[in-house]
Amino acid sequence: MAPGVEVIDHPLVQHKLTLLRKKSTSTLEFRRLLGELSALMTYEVTRDLPLREVAIETPVAATRGVCIDGKKVVLVAILRAGIGILDGMLSVVPGARVGHVGLYRDEATLHPVEYYFRMPRDLEQRDVIVVDPMLATGNSAIAALDRIKAGMPRSLRFVCLVSCPEGIANLRAHHPDVPIFTAAIDQGLNEHGYIVPGLGDAGDRYFGTRM
Ligand code: URA
Repeated sequence: MAPGVEVIDHPLVQHKLTLLRKKSTSTLEFRRLLGELSALMTYEVTRDLPLREVAIETPVAATRGVCIDGKKVVLVAILRAGIGILDGMLSVVPGARVGHVGLYRDEATLHPVEYYFRMPRDLEQRDVIVVDPMLATGNSAIAALDRIKAGMPRSLRFVCLVSCPEGIANLRAHHPDVPIFTAAIDQGLNEHGYIVPGLGDAGDRYFGTRM
């Protein structure tokens, strides 16, 4: 395993991912499974968030507990498929702030072009989790991280459901300081840039726009 890459191999995650991949899975089921997977993966992704001690009173006694340190966590969806991961993550971290990065691929240069960028304030005091279900070439993730890094977040993590060796190598080469969390590392990319075996176009399957 490449350093900085964590494969979340919890049996529930792997079971649901297999159901998600199946071409017979309906849009309704795909949404439900992606939501459940995103919530489950959030436990691993947030495992090392810093905590701070707080004084509290229970109905019985004064005691000390812990809270997640700093300002609210930020979830950043890379449009459009990243939206599919937000709801599941927000069910576990309901107070998180949300940013969006919109990128499309210029068909002449094959490079991502930004059409939308909106982040919460005070990124330097926040831990940022960037989400996109598929890490294919890695070019969109690199462009999104380049932009987000300019705001100097306290920490950055990248989360995807399915990745491939090409995307991981590209993202690690450009952003070696950003840990990658994924549920699977597949064989590779086909000539159309799809991950094999993958699950097809995550955005089309989540939004029901498959032709
Ligand atoms: N984006 C997708 O939605 N699926 C892939 O396989 C690759 C990129």
